[in-house]
Amino acid sequence: MRVCSVVGARPQFIKALPVSRRLRADHEEVLIHTGQHYDESLSGIFFEELDIPEPEYNLGVGSGGHASQTAEMMRLLDEVIEAESPDAVLVYGDTNSTLAGALVAAKREPTLAHVESGLRSGKWSMPEEVNRVLTDHCSDLLLAPAENAAANLRANDIRGEVVVTGDVMYDAVLAVRDRVLDASEPLPVPDLRPDEYVLSTVHRASNTDDPDRLAAIVDGLAAVDEPVVLPVHPRTDDALRRHGLYDRAADAIRLVDPVGYVDFLRLLSNASKVATDSGGVQKEAFYLDTPCVTLREETEWVETVETGWNVLVGSDPERIVAALTDRSELPSKPELYGGGDAAARTVAALEAVLADGT
Ligand code: UD1
Ligand code: UDP
Repeated sequence: MRVCSVVGARPQFIKALPVSRRLRADHEEVLIHTGQHYDESLSGIFFEELDIPEPEYNLGVGSGGHASQTAEMMRLLDEVIEAESPDAVLVYGDTNSTLAGALVAAKREPTLAHVESGLRSGKWSMPEEVNRVLTDHCSDLLLAPAENAAANLRANDIRGEVVVTGDVMYDAVLAVRDRVLDASEPLPVPDLRPDEYVLSTVHRASNTDDPDRLAAIVDGLAAVDEPVVLPVHPRTDDALRRHGLYDRAADAIRLVDPVGYVDFLRLLSNASKVATDSGGVQKEAFYLDTPCVTLREETEWVETVETGWNVLVGSDPERIVAALTDRSELPSKPELYGGGDAAARTVAALEAVLADGT
């Protein structure tokens, strides 16, 4: 089997790590990086530290508006898919790179498989919701991380075959867990004591593009007693400066550059809590036993909230502080997103669907 995998943004490099390894054990993979993320700290660092295979193609698309960025990816991806003539195209998650890969594959021969299928925020104003709904409708094979996501697909009259695989990000965490939990290494940000700081990430367009929401989040984080460390996504760096909030944030929050995956997970694992609007970080917090406070009104990862390990607080400063200072005992954790064999299940599902089609 010959598979073209399309990645382009930070979380997709991490999702591809276990799947590419598994795929390459028995099959041929062509890894295509759209170039949506291009800074060393958002792209190159992951390939280096995680030993992800060097992409066969980097389309170098870079940043842009949704339409122009997606259109340019589609134009270049179409040429690659034509030249490589794969049996399947694999796309991950919900970014513009995902949608571009899905639309190109849907108009051509290969089987389209979507990893992290079936997630829904119910919020159509969110660019990721548009990307994931359209990608699910284009896909022949829908790889859902949990039963709830599969139920969303069945309720949506989806054409392709649905397979519950578990979460490939859990596989990724397990692949580096020993390095993450190695207490002999110092934390990557100086002067932090384990369990005595809060980690935060903010990059969701709905939070960064609205100056009032961003200011409220800054105020909430600033009011927490413990040190707050925030590796700053370039979108957020730009927004803090544009909205005149940078100094207000820097006065109270330890703003640092984005860090590599292992360093990030070490910061997460040792934090007392994490405050985030990231999709991936909500799950990683659960895997690493760190209570999560989500800076959104809704989440696609509903299971983490149902178990009590994740609380939705939006951008309200009082709710942020209350959730970050709440020290209630958390319930024991059930297995939510599989047992760490999602990559193997993904490859097996691809093999089965291609065998059926021949
Ligand atoms: C994208 C995804 C989002 C995902 C996130 C992961 C879409 C619509 N959004 O959001 O779902 O959660 O990636 O991090 O696909 N920039 C740089 N350097 C880079 C990349 C971006 O400076 O290497 C800056 C540019 O100013 C760019 C902005 O960040 O305009 C936003 O980048 P973009 O890739 O459009 O969206 P993200 O916010 O990263
Ligand atoms: N991450 C990282 N370094 C950082 C911040 C995040 O390696 O400084 C990792 C994190 O461990 C997770 C992924 O990036 O695996 C999440 O990406 P992001 O929050 O950008 O996107 P989302 O998951 O919201 O789509």
